[in-house]
Amino acid sequence: MKFITTEDYYHMSRVAANIISAQVIMKPSCVLGLATGSTPLGIYKQLIRWYEKGDLDFSEVTTINLDEYKSLSPDNEQSYRYFMNKNFFNHINISKSKTHVPNGLELDEKKACSEYNAIIQSVHGIDLQLLGIGQNGHIGFNEPGGAFEKETHCIDLSESTILANSRFFKSYDEVPKQAYTMGIKSIMQAKKIIVVVSGNNKADIVKEAFFGPVTPKVPASILQLHPDTTIIGDKDAFKKVSDLI
Ligand code: GLP
Repeated sequence: MKFITTEDYYHMSRVAANIISAQVIMKPSCVLGLATGSTPLGIYKQLIRWYEKGDLDFSEVTTINLDEYKSLSPDNEQSYRYFMNKNFFNHINISKSKTHVPNGLELDEKKACSEYNAIIQSVHGIDLQLLGIGQNGHIGFNEPGGAFEKETHCIDLSESTILANSRFFKSYDEVPKQAYTMGIKSIMQAKKIIVVVSGNNKADIVKEAFFGPVTPKVPASILQLHPDTTIIGDKDAFKKVSDLI
């Protein structure tokens, strides 16, 4: 694994956006694995800016998102489809038909997951996967204790994740309790992975995930075994590992 220390959130976002834009320039028809959460927002803003300046062309790009809340429709403001459209896709020249997010409205779990697996297979592999990390070490919505070899599946969200994500909803009760997520197996098949971490509240999990044992109790720890993973963090997120990197 490679670590890039940046001054703050703004610089972390620019470094990650630079890597993504290099990918799009080198391979215009690339497949990007994309993430939600608050951490990637600065990256999307930066990519939009470069697109508006004429530096980037997304017309041939395909995207595969990590996850979606089960039961939320694309026009629900808390759905990840809505998030991606609002914060990224609506502002660039990507064809919406090439952007993929699990279908939250499909309540038949088996069908929703096998359809998403088929999409992942049809694009012949993710060139660059962007990841954030939950405070309990989840990636996508792969919660602690799940198996590493899973593909897309339906997950019961942990109490801590529901609590952490309730900040985006009116109340805790409104947070869906289940989600569809790409599995660790598919994430690990990405050719290149970049993980973005920012702020003091990620300092403990950064140490545990990337310098502790590889264990399903900390899903992100599996990334230690990926051949091309780069962790981009600001000083606060790296404060407990600065002497190790
Ligand atoms: C959600 C998403 C994850 C994301 C995590 C961290 O649970 N499913 O993909 O990494 O939030 O979010 P944040 O970046 O807001 O800390």
